[in-house]
Formats: sequence, C-alpha cells, structure tokens
Amino acid sequence: MSIINLELKKVVDDSYDIEIGRHLEDTMIQDIKSGLVGKIRRFAVITDSIVNDLYAEPICEKLRQEGYTVSSFVIPEGEKSKTREVKACIEDAMLEAGFRRDCCVINVGGGVVSDLGGFLAGTYGRGVPFLNYSTTLLSAADASVGGKTAVDTKLATNLIGLFNQPKKVYIDLATWETLDKRQLSSGMAETIKHACLGDFEMFEYLESHMEDILSGDAASCEYIAEKNCSIKYKVVMKDERESGLREILNLGHTVGRAIETVSDYRLLHGEALAIGMAAEVRLATKFGTMTQDEADRVIALYEKAGLSTAIPSYIDREELVKKLYTDKKVRDGHLRFVLQKGIGAIDEHVPGEYARPVAEEDAREIIMEMP
Ligand SMILES: NC(=O)c1ccc[n+]([C@@H]2O[C@H](COP(=O)([O-])OP(=O)(O)OC[C@H]3O[C@@H](n4cnc5c(N)ncnc54)[C@H](O)[C@@H]3O)[C@@H](O)[C@H]2O)c1
Repeated sequence: MSIINLELKKVVDDSYDIEIGRHLEDTMIQDIKSGLVGKIRRFAVITDSIVNDLYAEPICEKLRQEGYTVSSFVIPEGEKSKTREVKACIEDAMLEAGFRRDCCVINVGGGVVSDLGGFLAGTYGRGVPFLNYSTTLLSAADASVGGKTAVDTKLATNLIGLFNQPKKVYIDLATWETLDKRQLSSGMAETIKHACLGDFEMFEYLESHMEDILSGDAASCEYIAEKNCSIKYKVVMKDERESGLREILNLGHTVGRAIETVSDYRLLHGEALAIGMAAEVRLATKFGTMTQDEADRVIALYEKAGLSTAIPSYIDREELVKKLYTDKKVRDGHLRFVLQKGIGAIDEHVPGEYARPVAEEDAREIIMEMP
C-alpha cells in the first residue's frame, strides 16, 4: 500500500476594486481592454427583463463595437428568478451558444442578478471570472460586494451557493435615477442596517439626510455608497467565509429572511429586512443591549425611509416562528440572533461570538407583540 500526498496548499489573492461613480460603462470596457480579465474576448451578460433595455443592451452593444463576442441572457425580473432552475436554463443556453471556459460573466442589475450570476460563474466550466455592474441601491449597499452568491429554494433563501469574488464591482449611481420609489426605499434597509451595526455618525447622517437621498441628491448618494462599501469590506476582509465576525452583517436577517420567504416574496428584501430589524431591536431591548430610546430611533429611521416595520396581516405568525429555523445561523437546532449594542456597534456576547442563542419563546413573544 502507498500513500501519495497531493500538496495543494494555496495562496489566493481575491482582492478587487469597487468603483463608485456615474455612467461607468466606458470605464468597465476600458478596464477589460486593459486586461482586467486577461485575454478573454467572450462575454455572457446576465441581466433581468427590466434592466436589459435600460443598461445591459447598451453595454453589450459597446462591447460588440470593440470587437468582443457578446451574448445576453435575460431572466424575468424579481426574486422568483433566483432559483436553481433559472440558473440551469442560463447554463444550457450558454453551452448551446458555444460558451466554454474562456469566457467572462458580466452581471448587470441588482442583487438577484449578481447573486445568481456570481453563483453561475463559480460553477460554469468549474469557474469563470465575473464582473458586477450594480444598478440598485440595495446591491450597491450590500449584494454586489463581498462574494456571497446563491439561489433560493422553496424552503429557504440563499442556502445553496458559493463564496465567489468578482474581478471588479462597478456601482453606477446614475442608474438609481430609474429605480422606482419602492425599490429605493427597499435599498435603504441595508444602508440603515450598516449604520446600526458599525457607524453611529452615519446613522445621524441618515436621520438628517433621508429626504435628500430618496430624492437622488448626488452628494448624499455618493456618501452612502462609499460608507456602505467601507463598512462591508472591512468586515469581509477580516472574515470572508462567515466563521465569526461576518455574522454581524446578518443583523436583522433572522426574522427578515424568514418573513421574506413566508410572504412568498410579496415583501421585497429590504421591506422584509425593515421588519426584521424592528424585531431584533425589540429583542435587544429585552436582553438589555439597547435602550428603548435607541430602539425607537432605529424604528423611526426605517419609517422615515418609507419602510413599514409592522408585520403584514397576511403573515401567519406561527409559520414565521417555524421558518426562523431555516436560518443559516441556527446551531445544533438552536436559534441565534445578532443583536445591536446601542446604535453603531454589535453585541459581542462572548469573545469572538456575535450571534447569541435565543430561546424560541423569547423570539415568539416579540413576534406576537409586534404591530
Ligand atoms: N450576496 C449578498 O451579500 C446579498 C446581500 C443583500 C441582499 N442580497 C440579495 O439581493 C437581492 C435583492 O436585491 P435588489 O433589491 O437589487 O433586487 P433585484 O435585483 O430584484 O432588483 C430590484 C428590482 O429593480 C429592478 N431594477 C434594477 N435596477 C434598476 C434600475 N436601475 N432602474 C429600474 N429598475 C431597476 C429590477 O428589475 C427588479 O425589478 C435579494 O435576492 C437578496 O437576497 C444579497
């Protein structure tokens, strides 16, 4: 008998730039021409049915004019497209169109497109490079940065996926001008969450500039785009694979994700998160990591962003409690919640642990008491 050891230790450099600006199509094409993805000349542009005409098709056209081979793959807009089935359809279409390993994926759109397209890029031909061209506030604030990619299943959101980092992220602030008010408010949910978990000054800024942001004021939009990225990348750089600190980004998501699924995606991601944050500040008050005044301030800021923090009447609250157990933070069958410590910090309830076990009765009590 013999034992052969395959020495496969790796030093991986997954560093990448996030560029924030307006009308970044030409910048992205210039980067490609300058070798951002090596010698690749074939691009699969993944987008959705709304973003296609607005931003993806013009990008495809510009790439073609530069002599690149480009095909676009357009999914129906909305969360219901973020599935294994839709991913398989695009993969089959890419295979039929002759895409092999020498291609690059460009995701043009919001978080649905970047989550699905990033996952697809990680498995297509065992992995091809990808770029994110972000067109929503929510994806600028969160989804396009950090390398978490996934699809939803009937039972839970985002549980099937990969950590897969893009080669570069483009955050085009000009694209926010075509977002409708509901989507803009939904995008604010992750932004407020970032302020709550890591930056009190940003929280105060949001309290005094909410109207400016929602009306598209350029300076305020740039401020929040930069703040969001810096809070997120500081956490991701320390803990890419969510073994500890990265769990803090999950603030509000225990109830948020569960209610998003129970609503069958009638609630947008940010709308669900606003309710999740309202539940978790109540829990934090109960556990003494926040004062009542602080909790009220967080809830008031969500309401100011146009987001309701009440549980809709069509939600079955008992089903919501059950759904909490599909959360990825559940450990040994026990619920775990990330809780704020005041505003601008997270409670590290034992060293290195940011999600604390919470008894089902405590979670149920909060959910039943909520408006
Ligand atoms: N990977 C992560 O770390 C992470 C973090 C947070 C959220 N997410 C995921 O992100 C998704 C939500 O992201 P989202 O809110 O961007 O959703 P989305 O991609 O569905 O976009 C929202 C809607 O806006 C439309 N749209 C996009 N850009 C537009 C524009 N510029 N003008 C007009 N309409 C536009 C889309 O067609 C869609 O109808 C969820 O699936 C969530 O799970 C992922």
